[in-house]
Amino acid sequence: MEKREKLYEGKAKIVYATDEPDKVVLYFKDDTTAFDGLKKEQILGKGVINNAISSMIFELLKKRGIPTHYIKKLSDREMLAYKVDIIPVEVVVRNYAAGSFTRRYGVPEGTRLERPLVETFWKNDELHDPLVCAEHIELLKLADLKDVEKMKELALKVNEVLKDFFAARNVILVDFKLEFGKTPDGRLVVADEISPDSCRLWDAETKKKLDKDVFRYDLGSLEEAYKELLKRLEEG
Ligand code: TMP
Ligand code: ASP
Repeated sequence: MEKREKLYEGKAKIVYATDEPDKVVLYFKDDTTAFDGLKKEQILGKGVINNAISSMIFELLKKRGIPTHYIKKLSDREMLAYKVDIIPVEVVVRNYAAGSFTRRYGVPEGTRLERPLVETFWKNDELHDPLVCAEHIELLKLADLKDVEKMKELALKVNEVLKDFFAARNVILVDFKLEFGKTPDGRLVVADEISPDSCRLWDAETKKKLDKDVFRYDLGSLEEAYKELLKRLEEG
């Protein structure tokens, strides 16, 4: 497998073509952004940690029979994945109130939700990723209703797997965001990354934040928080 031209550069990753048309290389950068790119910094080694954690999580999902774009980890910063068309809908699952849920509905941060909540957002930086329901998604032609249902169902399955995985490592999965893609043959798969950039993860005892909120709200060293999380995940 040979890496070829750059296809797309996002805020945290670069996508490269390969000599195989159905496969791409994802390169994890150190760039860290928040609030739709308003706050931006380079955090040395972040890309390496996020590739390690994402790869570990995708391996686990694969074992549990959840379809993803992941093929294998290639190097410190590179992952091989199936090429997909990303659906411009971010699917968020929440187990506890935090972030925009707390701001929008006034439920205090850390309140346990009676059952996992699935929300959908339009992936659109200019509009600041507005919350959209299935009807919006269909009307705006972001995805069809069948796929919205499937994405929500898969997101809840991912939640069950990850909740237990993190709990066994003394970490609470507060919430997380998934992106989905379509392969050329029409399969719906979990895509992008699953890392502390896209999840809220708290120490089960101290409730210390081990995710990107540390950067968003200047709560300390992001590098230290991510390193601690990786260590716990590797120790199992
Ligand atoms: P929110 O509470 O800000 O809506 O975020 C919900 C989850 O989604 C949280 O785990 C962080 C993650 N997230 C992203 O991965 N990308 C984003 O652009 C945003 C706003 C949130
Ligand atoms: N991912 C978004 C950004 O890069 C927002 C966030 O994660 O807070 O700006």
